[in-house]
Amino acid sequence: MTYSRITGTGRYLPEKVLTNFDLEKMVDTTDEWIRTRTGVERRHCVAEDQTTSDMCVEAARLALDAAGVAPTDIDMVIVGTTSPDLVFPNVGTIVQHRLGIPACPAVSLEAACTGFIYALSTADKYIRAGDVKRALVLGAECITKLIDWSDRNTCVLFGDGAGAVVLERSDEPGILTTHLGADGQYRDLLYYPVGASKDLAKAGTDEAAIMMTGKEVFKVAVTTLGDVASRALESAGVSPDELDWLVPHQANIRIIQATAKRLNLPMEKVIVTVQDHGNTSAASVPLALDTAVRDGRIKPGQLVLMEAFGGGFTWGSVLMRF
Ligand code: COA
Repeated sequence: MTYSRITGTGRYLPEKVLTNFDLEKMVDTTDEWIRTRTGVERRHCVAEDQTTSDMCVEAARLALDAAGVAPTDIDMVIVGTTSPDLVFPNVGTIVQHRLGIPACPAVSLEAACTGFIYALSTADKYIRAGDVKRALVLGAECITKLIDWSDRNTCVLFGDGAGAVVLERSDEPGILTTHLGADGQYRDLLYYPVGASKDLAKAGTDEAAIMMTGKEVFKVAVTTLGDVASRALESAGVSPDELDWLVPHQANIRIIQATAKRLNLPMEKVIVTVQDHGNTSAASVPLALDTAVRDGRIKPGQLVLMEAFGGGFTWGSVLMRF
């Protein structure tokens, strides 16, 4: 049987760190409010001239190194992002070219905060179908460029970064199950109002900023993430206590705690980086994964569940043996 397996991870976080205390000077908020309502203490922000592909290249180099493979060994690139450098060419092709990866499928995939899970699931299917041997899969965002820095409801939540994995064909699992979902009826609860074919004239104005109805997003996120996690375990015939690690989307510590509680999973088994990264959208899961792989918590052979939820709404999970 053919499986896909993660053989290397990497991450990049921009140099500039913005703390809650910095935000106190920018909007009417407090460190205490942000920490207790969201769990965020600090976040990284890209420099003005830095792009999503810049961060991807750095994260990818580390993932390739960790996997012990050369750029010329890669035969697919998929980047989950909702903040691409340009409308086109897509970020995947920019990363491919800059790393010296030979001609192969290269694309970016837009599923908001679930972008990495969608990208990983897609690469898994191509590998198991026999079309691809070694994929470079990334989640990366310059989400702070889409924020209204005078809106305390949103500006305290988000951060930038990139995470990467090398996914290879393997006779041993590997990825065990993937589940993706979406429901477009929720579009108005979380969206960015400017696009290439809609209201482009608003770009660069005050109206071009993330719009969010936080309370409603929170409720649907808690229910959906609990459901998608349970479904992943049920379909693999795995009970929550067999799980070594949950690597959840890092949007809000209270959402993470609620999901863990629904699974009856102690917080000691949950990788939490929201305090240091904020919500980095599609980068959130691969950033958390790489953090825990490099600090030695996630070890080869362990059972890991990753899950995410984002604008659309979109959601998804990947259950794997690392
Ligand atoms: N600092 C201080 N006060 C703030 C604030 C801030 N940064 N942001 C909002 N407030 C205020 C609100 O204006 C409101 O004041 P009011 O009662 O006078 O109107 C009060 O705090 C409570 O707001 P509320 O919306 O009830 O807070 P909450 O407990 O729901 O927390 C979020 C707000 C945004 C942190 C929370 O709803 C959330 O995390 N939602 C999900 C967001 C998310 O995950 N999005 C991405 C999904 S991928």
